[in-house]
Amino acid sequence: MAENATAPRPGLTLTVKGEDLNLRGEGIARWQGWVLVIPELLPGELARVQLVQRRRSQWIGRRLETLFAAPGARTPPCILARRCGGCTLQHWDDAHQSAWKRDRLVQTLSRIGGLHHPVDPLEPSEMGQPLGYRNRALLPLQRDAEGQLRLGYYKRGSHQLVNLNHCPVLDPGLDELLAPLKADLQATGWPADADLHQGDGLRHLGLRLATRSREVLITLISSTAELPGVHRLAQGWCDRWPQVKGVTLNLQPRRTNTVLGPQTLTLAGAGSVEEQFCGLQLTLASTTFFQVNTTEAERAVRSLSQWLLSQAGPIAVIDAYCGIGTIALPLAAAGHSVLGLEVHQASVEQARRNAEHNGLTGVRFLAGDVQHHLAEALPQHQALVVDPPRKGLDPAVTEQILACPPRWLAYLSCDPATLARDLARLAGPEAPYRIHRLQPFDFFPQTSHLECLALLERVSS
Ligand SMILES: C[S@@+](CC[C@H](N)C(=O)[O-])C[C@H]1O[C@@H](n2cnc3c(N)ncnc32)[C@H](O)[C@@H]1O
Repeated sequence: MAENATAPRPGLTLTVKGEDLNLRGEGIARWQGWVLVIPELLPGELARVQLVQRRRSQWIGRRLETLFAAPGARTPPCILARRCGGCTLQHWDDAHQSAWKRDRLVQTLSRIGGLHHPVDPLEPSEMGQPLGYRNRALLPLQRDAEGQLRLGYYKRGSHQLVNLNHCPVLDPGLDELLAPLKADLQATGWPADADLHQGDGLRHLGLRLATRSREVLITLISSTAELPGVHRLAQGWCDRWPQVKGVTLNLQPRRTNTVLGPQTLTLAGAGSVEEQFCGLQLTLASTTFFQVNTTEAERAVRSLSQWLLSQAGPIAVIDAYCGIGTIALPLAAAGHSVLGLEVHQASVEQARRNAEHNGLTGVRFLAGDVQHHLAEALPQHQALVVDPPRKGLDPAVTEQILACPPRWLAYLSCDPATLARDLARLAGPEAPYRIHRLQPFDFFPQTSHLECLALLERVSS
């Protein structure tokens, strides 16, 4: 097809240079004013591509041939990386991934928030672990037409399962269990279908590892408890692998995107593992939310804790969106008096048990929506920590902070776009806060996700 054509159409082949990546890690190039989205095209790469289809104002294409490789291009460490949807950046080396992630954060803060505060360098983890970092996996299961059990993540942009025996981003303590667990589940003959299209049965395999103690918890997620021989199998796993502290069965009969259901039964051993985090002992059950990259989460919490202590010494702090107290408990251990707010009742109960277990008396937890408790709590506290989900702060929560701004504010974000939006309101030209520090953390190497800790101080009320 002619390269000098002026109108894009399916089948047209072009020579383009990769300019950037989108949030899904797909390459972005430009041609005749059009934005082209080309999976796996890297910034700086020159390639022959073919247009496939139009998606709104963009054209989707595929790479036919690399003419000039991008700086940092590499063969992915995982042989399934090009198909599996679990990772998006494995074909780029770690230094380029980090530089691009930080750059995207800088640009997002500027474009959405009008913020131009310097952003710290994105330092590699102290453990230097761009692979083997995940302490948790929830893997869909499916038995194919021949009765073979398949286990793996879905193919990018589809619901097709990519069958795997190894996953190099999983902690090796979990990765080594994948193949033998799959073989044992294959031998049971139990039906398996994550989507329940083939009726009741197994849906997912859940694995959790306590990074420091190396204890493992195995969870079978199923729509039914009718799994003949399941107790014997579970006990067998505990006997065979001493690091496996327990096996649980989580029942999720509903057809929903929520993987875990409300009921969990312990089949063998214990229903939880013991993790050490920031010097504390945390009990983690199979359904507990806990950061998947223990060492990076610990770095972020330590940085926040040191900043607060250096600013003020022990003070009264609110930890909003506190989960099981991953931030609140270390702050209490550092001497602060802490109030944790969390909507998920089971997490609050877990947080209270963890506080008691560690002898921490200066911390209490309230179950409920942040926006229902924050306004009342703010006047009695000097600092507020927020660690909201990806959608960021609810506008009502931002309003409450602006109405009664505590002296110090720390915002741990997992989405640069919502962070930029919220900081624009809290630390824009007319706002009460000034940014003291913006510190990115890579909790999810090999993907386009990036966490950022923003430390702010009130300069006007
Ligand atoms: C990103 S997680 C952070 C959890 C915790 N800080 C940690 O590091 O493990 C966000 C937490 O906010 C909770 N959450 C979401 N919306 C909430 C709301 N409106 N009010 C209170 N908690 C909420 C979720 O249940 C989840 O535990």
